[in-house]
Amino acid sequence: MKWPVHGSNPQYIYEALNLPMPHQTIDFSTNINPLGPPSNLKEKWAELLPLITDYPDPHALSMTKSLAEKEGVIPSQLLIGNGGAEIISLIGRLLAGKRALIIQPAFAEYEEACRVNGCAVEYFQLQANEWKLNEDELASKLAQMDALFITNPQNPTGVYFAREQIIHLLQACCDNDCYLIVDEAFYDFVSTYEPIVALINEYPRLLIVRSMTKMFAIAGLRLGYLIANARIIQELKSYQPHWSINAIALKAGEWCLDEEEFIEKTRTLIDEERAKLFSFYQQNDFNVSPSQTNFYLLQDGLKDDQRPLFQFLLEKGMIPRHTMNFRGCEGNWLRFAIKSPKENRQLMEAMAEWRGN
Ligand SMILES: Cc1ncc(COP(=O)(O)O)c(C=O)c1O
Repeated sequence: MKWPVHGSNPQYIYEALNLPMPHQTIDFSTNINPLGPPSNLKEKWAELLPLITDYPDPHALSMTKSLAEKEGVIPSQLLIGNGGAEIISLIGRLLAGKRALIIQPAFAEYEEACRVNGCAVEYFQLQANEWKLNEDELASKLAQMDALFITNPQNPTGVYFAREQIIHLLQACCDNDCYLIVDEAFYDFVSTYEPIVALINEYPRLLIVRSMTKMFAIAGLRLGYLIANARIIQELKSYQPHWSINAIALKAGEWCLDEEEFIEKTRTLIDEERAKLFSFYQQNDFNVSPSQTNFYLLQDGLKDDQRPLFQFLLEKGMIPRHTMNFRGCEGNWLRFAIKSPKENRQLMEAMAEWRGN
């Protein structure tokens, strides 16, 4: 059986399992802000229409300038991309023919970007159920490596690694002439997030990947960026297709940069909903990963096989993300986005039904 590689587009998971797709579904397989796009973006949407007739700025100057100000870097330390996914592809090209170590379980795109560029890929496995990172053990594996990929907060567990741990890894990478790629696609959902951007000035091998598609619910528009040393930015830019980021994404993205209040409101909502969900799970013998972000791993603690729960939920129109292509999960866990209070309540009701309450 061929499992879909990503969440979202749930018709593919129903197709793969040969199940009819219910008319009403809630997609927990994609980790998008449950508040939807900021209201400012919705209100000003009509202003974007005239942009479609002309080519977008191939240098994304206006967005780059505004983003540089927000991040406290200079424009040459930034590269805007067609989603974080494009940035990851470009990093694969930077690493062509080299050796990369990926902390697992991880987003599948790192390995794919490395493999298509002829890289040798190795894994550093985090262990369930705590998914803790032992930096000393990891550092001892770096001598043979050219790059290390880490996601923070981690996907699919939602575990957040402290700044101190990242600095420890950075030093180890530096000692071994190894790039450290920190994918912060979900950083803005973490209330306890500690900024690492300023470290790019001290560590020229640090690459920070960001996505704007999750927090601002613009996954269909595509927007992400890289913060790194100017030399790396220049090299990646030379690999990027022309007009890669469309004009609507650039303008909408610029508007989103002022949305501090919206981000704060989102974090509060996610923290409250996570607390409710985790309390319910704890009382009902479900295991969850110690997530600090807007998604988590879950497992029925009373069953060895998670497949019947997966199928039960799909039949009810609740769509979890399978974990068949996450190393170290292999279907023993299901991943869920934290969604609106109503949707999370519906999920808890379905879980209670599964338990026979
Ligand atoms: C960890 C991680 N990084 C990067 C991305 C890419 O995000 P986008 O291309 O939508 O910006 C994703 C998407 O799910 C992700 O989970």
